[in-house]
Amino acid sequence: MTLFAFRRAKGHEWTFCDPPKGCSMKKITVLVSGGGSNLQSIIDAVASGYLKLQIAVVLSNEEEAFGLTRAKNSGIPAEVVRHGDFQSREDFETRLIEVLDGYGVDLVVLAGFMRVLTPPFVNHYHHRIINIHPAILPSFPGTHSQKQAFDYGVRFSGCTTHFVDEGTDTGPIIIQSIVPVLPDDTEESLGSRILKEEHRILPESIKLWSEERLLIEGRKVKILSEKSAKE
Ligand code: GRF
Repeated sequence: MTLFAFRRAKGHEWTFCDPPKGCSMKKITVLVSGGGSNLQSIIDAVASGYLKLQIAVVLSNEEEAFGLTRAKNSGIPAEVVRHGDFQSREDFETRLIEVLDGYGVDLVVLAGFMRVLTPPFVNHYHHRIINIHPAILPSFPGTHSQKQAFDYGVRFSGCTTHFVDEGTDTGPIIIQSIVPVLPDDTEESLGSRILKEEHRILPESIKLWSEERLLIEGRKVKILSEKSAKE
C-alpha cells in the first residue's frame, strides 16, 4: 500500500495515511480557455503517480474549450463560467470563487486561461495561484509572447512558471526553461518548442508546491530540498 504524507496547516506535524480511506489529498483546479495541452500534462502526471494530488475541477470561461473535453475524458468535473454572462469583472470573479471554493481547492493553476484576474481574486487565493507563461519573464509579458520574442529577434526564449500577484505576469518566479531560437524557426515552430518545455515545468512546479517545497521570500522563491521540506 502506498502511504502519502501530509503536513498539517500549522506546525510541523506529519500525518501518514492512505488517501482513499484516510485524510484528503491536496486539491487543485486548472483554469483553461483553449486546447488544454498543459492541462493534459497535469492529468498525465496525476495518472502516472508523479503528482500525488486531486484535480478537483477544470474550469473554463469558454464553453468550446477543448480542455473541458480533456477533463471529461478523464472523469474530472468540468465547469463553465462564461465571462460574457457578467456585467463586470468583479461579478465574474465572484462567481469563479464561489465555484472553486465549492470544490475546496487549495491551488489554482492557470494553464492558458485568457482572462486577467484582478486583485480581489488574486488576494482571495494569496500565493495559491500558479501561472505558466510562454516566455522568459520579465521579458515579453502579456499575450502573444512567442510572437513578441520571435519578432524581437531573440536568440533564446522559453517559459516561466510563477506565483500570481496583482500585476500581469509579474509574480515570484518558480521555474524557467530556456530554448534556442533556430535559424529556420517560424513563430509556430518556436512556440511548439516552448510548449514542450511548458509541459515539463508546469507539472514539476505543481509537484514542488504539493510537497511544500516552495518558500516565497519577497520576489524570490526558494526551492527546498526534499529533506528540508520534511524537517
Ligand atoms: C500556452 O502556451 C500557455 O503558456 C499560454 O497559452 C498556451 C495554452 O496552451 N498561456 P494549452 O491550452 O495548454 O495547449
